[in-house]
Amino acid sequence: MRIPIMAGNWKMNCDNEEAWQLAAAIADQVGDVQNCEMILCPPATALTTVLAAIEDTNIGLGAQNIFWEESGAYTGELSGPMLVSCGCEYVIIGHSERRGRFGAPDEDFTAELQKVFGDTDASVNRKIKAALSYELTPIVCVGELLSERQAGQTDEVVTSQVHAALDGLAADQIDLLVFAYEPVWAIGTGEVCDAGEANRVLGLIRSLLAEATSDSVAQEIRILYGGSVKPDNIVGLMQQPEIDGGLVGGAALQADSFGELISAAAASMG
Ligand code: PGA
Repeated sequence: MRIPIMAGNWKMNCDNEEAWQLAAAIADQVGDVQNCEMILCPPATALTTVLAAIEDTNIGLGAQNIFWEESGAYTGELSGPMLVSCGCEYVIIGHSERRGRFGAPDEDFTAELQKVFGDTDASVNRKIKAALSYELTPIVCVGELLSERQAGQTDEVVTSQVHAALDGLAADQIDLLVFAYEPVWAIGTGEVCDAGEANRVLGLIRSLLAEATSDSVAQEIRILYGGSVKPDNIVGLMQQPEIDGGLVGGAALQADSFGELISAAAASMG
């Protein structure tokens, strides 16, 4: 039985005061929930603040990005040991926003962000390996653009992202990963992916994981859905057999809605 995960990706939101308030309110509401692995991923500036707020709860701490070198002349970057020293146990890797994939009404802006953030399939793979070497659990994001879905390329795009993410990893490393399927067109748009379709793509990801390891290992790996997860769609998502939880943006920024998501995920354990 896979324990569900509910991970809040706060993105570039919350100064330290706001982060404290939000984390403390979440801790108050759901800090003792057992049947759901709960993760908060605040901006790096608020990691230690959030850590203090979730002390003595069942909630874990995650970062939103990692750089693969241990230290050195990499202005603005954060290494695995730094994240560990802030109390992180998880790290989101390859979020579509960091890959510069915004689904783009404004192609120029997207291209610019690709240059600024610059995550590629290759850097995602390096970051996964770095995270594992510091015993951080990677939450690896994959997902297609709207134009790719419309062109019938969803499975191809997701397959190539998963293959690239797994490149050079042994089965006992793959076993430690968490995946998140986040169709880019569903992120922050309010347009959730149909639960059955999300389940189908997660099944595809699980079959790729099985090919890279074995059926029994793939059955243990948690695969999340992300993209406009809200209290009003979480129950339908969690009813799907392949969906092991959510990677949540907007609805993770309020204690009440994030708490509802956690309760629904924990309840899905029966
Ligand atoms: P959203 O973001 O829940 O606001 O759509 C999800 C994500 O980007 O991980």
